[in-house]
Amino acid sequence: MNPEAPPPPRPRVLSGMRPTGALHLGHYHGALKNWVRLQSSHDCFFFVADWHALTTSRPDRATLERNVYDMVVDWLAAGVDPEQATLFIQSRMPEHAELFTLLAMSTPLSWLERIPSFKDLAERLPDSASYGLLGYPLLQAADILIYKAAQVPVGEDQQAHVEVTREVARRFNHLYSPEAPILVEPQALLTETARLPGLDGQKMSKSYGNAIAMREEPAVVEEKIRTMPTDPQRARRGDPGEPSHCPVWPLHQLYSDEATRSWAAQGCRSAGIGCLDCKQPLIEAIQREQAPWRERANEYLANPKQVHWIVEVGTERARAVARKTLREVRGAMGLSY
Ligand code: TRP
Ligand code: SF4
Repeated sequence: MNPEAPPPPRPRVLSGMRPTGALHLGHYHGALKNWVRLQSSHDCFFFVADWHALTTSRPDRATLERNVYDMVVDWLAAGVDPEQATLFIQSRMPEHAELFTLLAMSTPLSWLERIPSFKDLAERLPDSASYGLLGYPLLQAADILIYKAAQVPVGEDQQAHVEVTREVARRFNHLYSPEAPILVEPQALLTETARLPGLDGQKMSKSYGNAIAMREEPAVVEEKIRTMPTDPQRARRGDPGEPSHCPVWPLHQLYSDEATRSWAAQGCRSAGIGCLDCKQPLIEAIQREQAPWRERANEYLANPKQVHWIVEVGTERARAVARKTLREVRGAMGLSY
């Protein structure tokens, strides 16, 4: 082997999150943990999808900015390393909008109209659905294709969008660069972790009021877990319960080792332990998990300029890649005059 040979390039990964503000444990276990894992083996691009947030809501200006930076602080707190991964903000990248416009010319309207998330939202929104909402999966395709990402870590709800992205790339290559394809068809990288339900057993979501924030105060974590509903059959301490009917149980599956789980399951079924006993190891495990996040987040919160700088550097790094793809796309379409 030639010791001088450069290491093979790391496969490129791209993912984005809507700026919903401070993140909760569902975000961490459903996505962020996976980002942190990928960053050492892959060339990761992670971005704040702030334009996407505007397709379904109209946050006021102060809220939008706060949501963006609260989320970035939580990425950093979770261990996303700006030395390894490229972090940036979508709205700072007009290049995405240009590619979106160019791809729009070869994307059939029917591909966007039939996307399930559009149909659902269009029916539920109070005002009529916007053009931006219809175009959002194509904007997402531009987000991905402009970096020639090989893999896109997403939840199940986003799989259809990665599928459309592949079709958009295939069609573009077929129409404009059949000999030497320019755009790369990405693979969805489905996050395997089981979804972490919220405090009431429904999907964890800030808007349902059933979330534990990543930076929740330890006393609040304790209070939230202690007041969580349990198996309705276990109304009294002496009633035996069934873990699989209890919203607390998924937390044990995520946070407890085998020994603790069998202690809890057995104690529940025999009424040998009370629900507060059962919850105690979870409170401690969550607080232990959060301690390093809080420490890192506090450093960044005390130094907001550093967070801005990290995003600044990432945005320029991303822009260099995006510009190169755009040059190729413009050339293929005959727009390089
Ligand atoms: N649409 C995604 C969401 O709502 C966010 C997103 C935008 C994204 N562009 C992306 C995710 C590109 C992965 C790749 O959660
Ligand atoms: Fe749920 Fe644990 Fe109570 Fe059983 S003992 S009902 S698993 S909280």
